[in-house]
Amino acid sequence: MSHQRPTDGPLTLRVNGQRRTVDFVASDASLLTVLRNDFELNGPKFGCGFGQCGACTVLVDAQATRACAIPAVAAVGRDVTTLEGLGTPDQLHVIQRAFVEEQAAQCGYCLNGMIMSTKVLLERNSSPSDEQIRDALRYNLCRCGTHIEIMNAVRRAARYVQQQQGLGDAIPG
Ligand code: FES
Repeated sequence: MSHQRPTDGPLTLRVNGQRRTVDFVASDASLLTVLRNDFELNGPKFGCGFGQCGACTVLVDAQATRACAIPAVAAVGRDVTTLEGLGTPDQLHVIQRAFVEEQAAQCGYCLNGMIMSTKVLLERNSSPSDEQIRDALRYNLCRCGTHIEIMNAVRRAARYVQQQQGLGDAIPG
């Protein structure tokens, strides 16, 4: 990729709509390391570190991406969105709201990835079937067994997205 910097040094990324620069990044540092350690964006979690569990999922140019599995330099010139870019505690994104309302968490470690993968799913298909939901989240692992609540949350989030699209009733206050 033409944007890649082959050596250690400063790095600028576009994260959640803002340009963020760090003075020194090792050329092999993962995107997850830079997001968490340098930009203090701790929504994405370090789980397996091998691209297997999905806890670190972020969006890179709107694609669900394992931040542990790509070097930060690979995100130069691309739009990176983390969980923090979706909503705020005062103004939750409808997907976050749906997960809260369905209490779809036990330890909560997988939720970042569940929510980010749900975002990608609902942007492509706001009326997913249960099979499509399971398929979209199949690489996001939950070890607590919260799957039923997570399914309910995604169904609820889909209804909210449909409402935003004018395809359903207004979102209740
Ligand atoms: Fe990245 Fe598990 S921490 S996939």
